[in-house]
Amino acid sequence: MTQTTVEPNPLQESIRLEKIPEPCVMVIFGASGDLTRRKLVPAIFDLEAQGLLPAGFAIVGVGRTPMEDGSFRSYLHEEMKKAGHLNARRASLWDEFARMLHYVAVDASIADEFHRLREALHAINTDHRAGSNYLFYLATPPSMYAPIIRHIGLCGLNRPQRDDAWVRIIIEKPFGVDLESARELNRQVISVFNEEQVYRIDHYLGKETVQNLLAFRFANGIFEPIWNRNYIDHVQITAAETVGVENRGAYYEEAGTLRDMIQNHMLQLLALTAMEPPVLFDERQVRDEKQKILQAIKPIRPEDVQVYTVRGQYAQGTTAGKSVPAYRDEKGVAPDSPTETYVALKLTVDDWRWADVPFYVRSGKRLPKRITEIAVQFKKTPHHMFSGFAGDRLSANSIVIRIQPDEGISLRFNSKIPGSRMNMRPVTMDFRYGAAFGGRLVEAYTRLLLDCMLGDPTLYARGDSLEMAWSLVTPILEGWKSNAQSRVFPYPAGTWGPPEADALLHADGRRWRLP
Ligand SMILES: NC(=O)c1ccc[n+]([C@@H]2O[C@H](COP(=O)([O-])OP(=O)(O)OC[C@H]3O[C@@H](n4cnc5c(N)ncnc54)[C@H](OP(=O)(O)O)[C@@H]3O)[C@@H](O)[C@H]2O)c1
Repeated sequence: MTQTTVEPNPLQESIRLEKIPEPCVMVIFGASGDLTRRKLVPAIFDLEAQGLLPAGFAIVGVGRTPMEDGSFRSYLHEEMKKAGHLNARRASLWDEFARMLHYVAVDASIADEFHRLREALHAINTDHRAGSNYLFYLATPPSMYAPIIRHIGLCGLNRPQRDDAWVRIIIEKPFGVDLESARELNRQVISVFNEEQVYRIDHYLGKETVQNLLAFRFANGIFEPIWNRNYIDHVQITAAETVGVENRGAYYEEAGTLRDMIQNHMLQLLALTAMEPPVLFDERQVRDEKQKILQAIKPIRPEDVQVYTVRGQYAQGTTAGKSVPAYRDEKGVAPDSPTETYVALKLTVDDWRWADVPFYVRSGKRLPKRITEIAVQFKKTPHHMFSGFAGDRLSANSIVIRIQPDEGISLRFNSKIPGSRMNMRPVTMDFRYGAAFGGRLVEAYTRLLLDCMLGDPTLYARGDSLEMAWSLVTPILEGWKSNAQSRVFPYPAGTWGPPEADALLHADGRRWRLP
């Protein structure tokens, strides 16, 4: 590890992290893939640049493509340069970093090949003095997760070889495609690993602003007393993307927005927004409280999908002044595809705090703006003493937590317009991360990988919460399939989804915020 050019370190500034993880070998299955290139290797390089990698550390890439260590290193070097991760200050770190990179060509669907892999890992562990600690990362197509886990178990790599060593495994999304497959995958995982070895990643949970949601709610005294049905009218959670399916049409055809965004990221955001204060900020308490919220969400029954859900699919339209094709004309997409690229849901949390407070959740592709936010809409004042002056311009207060981009929190309230009359309009009090703390935010993958190396699963999804989330989403998928009247409504690319999504809120006398 290079000590001379260590960068200022936003992670170490947080209280918890004077810690450097123990030495380990990180084994990435799917080393020649998109995720490794775009997210995983940049995140580990980031840790190196911040002086957070242990002295004994190595990465072993695994894939079927034949490659030597040298060609693996050159490939990643090129990719890192192309993506702009090697600026002048960081470029000098590369040679040192590259020495940690190894590659073993293995077809992970073949059990016998794991004996060769095991020998190679032991040799690398010895060379790098990695303490016999292993971190496996599954970044292959999901169909390979179960075979890889089984084969790791068959060759004994799932158990630490020494009393003081550890073995952990990170599993990428998607974790199953419905409740039954998620349960089955959990069964397979738990037949080989103990639950405390398993880290199911949801990168949204690693985002700085998502963690700040907990700080905002539970490290301040003024918000929690009003964070309930007595003061809050409803909550809107939005994850909007301007992009379409890009070159992942074939993947998206199988997934759709409900599986790709709602089952994981959006339900996690809802749980963090609605959960009770944990007694401690530790993995057990935080994850227990989130789980209670998922349990309290009233499932939407298949026969009710028309009342509580709207799904849409983008048609040809315009984004950023450019004409873009319809989803059905994208590469890898069937011309009559029923896959949704937009979902809006009305959810209710059946507990004491949230009774009668709807949570409206929406996510879509090819919307006008890239934004993820949680908007907490408060009730109107009980009496309108200014109605003669301000007319309709007075709106109820809201707190908006912007997850990305332009991360921050804003509070909207009504203010008097300067002048001799009592005129008013809403204004915004804004906290911006960039302005308050300067510098860049820590990337979610950087944070989460470090947490796993440190043995802290707080920001990872637990098996029971994944199953719970699937048990909420699966009846919707069934309803969409079985209910002849349930339709996928088209919306022109570059608009805020189908008009039917507006009607979902209009029916309750509300409307979507314009983010
Ligand atoms: N890309 C993203 O932004 C993203 C985001 C979130 C989650 N994910 C998840 O991460 C996983 C990987 O996604 P990706 O986009 O990186 O996929 P990808 O580009 O298709 O890469 C898949 C990787 O798996 C390897 N692989 C496939 N079959 C294998 C086998 N039998 N033995 C060994 N290696 C095998 C491939 O290498 P060889 O061809 O050399 O064998 C390749 O390196 C997926 O589950 C995806 O859902 C991806």
